[in-house]
Amino acid sequence: MLGLICGALLIAFAAVFSQRLFTASRWYHKLHNPHSYPLPPSPPSQFFFGHTRVIPTRNPEKYYKKLSKKYNSDVLYFKQYRTPVIVLNSVKAANELLSKQGANYSSRPRFVLFEVMGWGLTLTFMPWSPLFKTHRALLQKSFTKSNIIQYQALQERSARRAILRIINSPSDWSSHLRSFASTIVQQIAFGVELSHDEDARVQRATSLANRVLAEGGSPGSTLIDNFPFLAKLPIWLVRSKALEHARNLGWIIRDLHDIPFAASRREFEAGTLRDDCFVSPLLEQFAEEKKQDKEGELSIPDINGAAATIFIAGFDTTYTTLLVGILAFLSHPPVFHKAREILERVIGTARLPSLSDRENPELRYLDYIVDEISRWRPLSPLGVPHKSVEDDVYDGMFIPKGATVYFNAWAMSRDEATYREPERFCPERYLEKGEGGWGEPVLQAPFGFGRRVCPGKYLAQASVWIALVTLIVTVDISNLVGGDGEEIKPEVEFSSGLSR
Ligand code: HEM
Repeated sequence: MLGLICGALLIAFAAVFSQRLFTASRWYHKLHNPHSYPLPPSPPSQFFFGHTRVIPTRNPEKYYKKLSKKYNSDVLYFKQYRTPVIVLNSVKAANELLSKQGANYSSRPRFVLFEVMGWGLTLTFMPWSPLFKTHRALLQKSFTKSNIIQYQALQERSARRAILRIINSPSDWSSHLRSFASTIVQQIAFGVELSHDEDARVQRATSLANRVLAEGGSPGSTLIDNFPFLAKLPIWLVRSKALEHARNLGWIIRDLHDIPFAASRREFEAGTLRDDCFVSPLLEQFAEEKKQDKEGELSIPDINGAAATIFIAGFDTTYTTLLVGILAFLSHPPVFHKAREILERVIGTARLPSLSDRENPELRYLDYIVDEISRWRPLSPLGVPHKSVEDDVYDGMFIPKGATVYFNAWAMSRDEATYREPERFCPERYLEKGEGGWGEPVLQAPFGFGRRVCPGKYLAQASVWIALVTLIVTVDISNLVGGDGEEIKPEVEFSSGLSR
């Protein structure tokens, strides 16, 4: 009986409480949205969960694109538990908000799941703050178009070594490409050759890192991201696969942060660290400030976090782009043959291509291959989410403060008003109409927007260019042939997380 009374009281309390909440939230919106602009369109939601259980966990980008068409709106609104979510499905909306209103959309939501994995002070996940500005400035100035020229020799050397290894052991081609991608950013960030054991541990971590990035679901959108206190509870109580995954695979992130940085510090102390790597001047500055007993701008965890960001953000994205490139060549052989024909005609066969050849306008088709890889299969289909700092109005729709804002790079890459036959891998689409092309614009969305746009874009594109071009002139790429004489088409499945 007492239980029944308590239950009835509880229900009555909940009803009054939710009525109050409802009224309070209406007043809140009235106050902040005085002209009562409507929110962007959204499907029906559920009590407490909002749209959490409505949005598919696999390939939500495709669902958003469909909905955008259904509601005839490039901006959509959702609620994930308590958090407002905005999805931008067109280049125009992303440019208007994330780029032109950059100051309002340059923060990040909290990524609790990634915190559990042990990410250090990582620019990618930092909200807008003075610390963000310091880290962003450091990375941005290190990877400008002109500053990355100093890395060309490293990129060419690494590409040639990787292709030689592929020629010697073709069945391990993908691990040779992965070590190509990781060597470049590891050298640039930390400036060290690791000992055999350290290298084996880092190689193991890099080979598994994709699982951390790809299987964590859409970043910032899991149950744990919405209710951070759950991250402290035991798995049997929370029953979250994502949390279990973050706890079990956290060592990968920690190894990628700590092993190369410990080697850099060791070499720095011994005076043997290369001074053209990212951490060298920062360790120098830190040591100088310590000597003078001054509190510097950057701590050791800052330097470690910034260098690890370059390493982790840089190797997996570059490697996966190369894999997509190989896939494109396998499924569109004429592109591969045309690229080889152009390279042989322009450069000849007496020498290997180098990055300075990229300046040659006759080789523009090769750049367009790199651009088309990013459009054809954007690595982060929903990007890394931004966060709105203040309320805003766009195209007559209310965008609330604190919203998690995704840009749907996948929908932008399939916009049929811009890209004819979007499923086709076709570098010619970017050539001018007068040159026999389709005159379509290169898609910037795979690298993001506004003040959070990828600072490593130029470096990544140069690495991908030199690896693919060296591969094209030295190796034939084709599907295996089965016993029946037929080609075996690869079965490809993309994962659905931060990076594919
Ligand atoms: C093809 C390869 C790459 C792709 C497709 C890619 C894509 C992206 C995307 C979509 C973002 C989020 C942008 C936004 O929020 O608007 C991003 C951020 C970032 N990328 Fe890349 N990236 C690549 C390579 C690299 C490389 C080589 C580096 C390092 C040198 C790098 C470092 C970063 C960093 C540090 C951020 C965070 C920026 C911030 O939050 O302010 N990326 N990248």
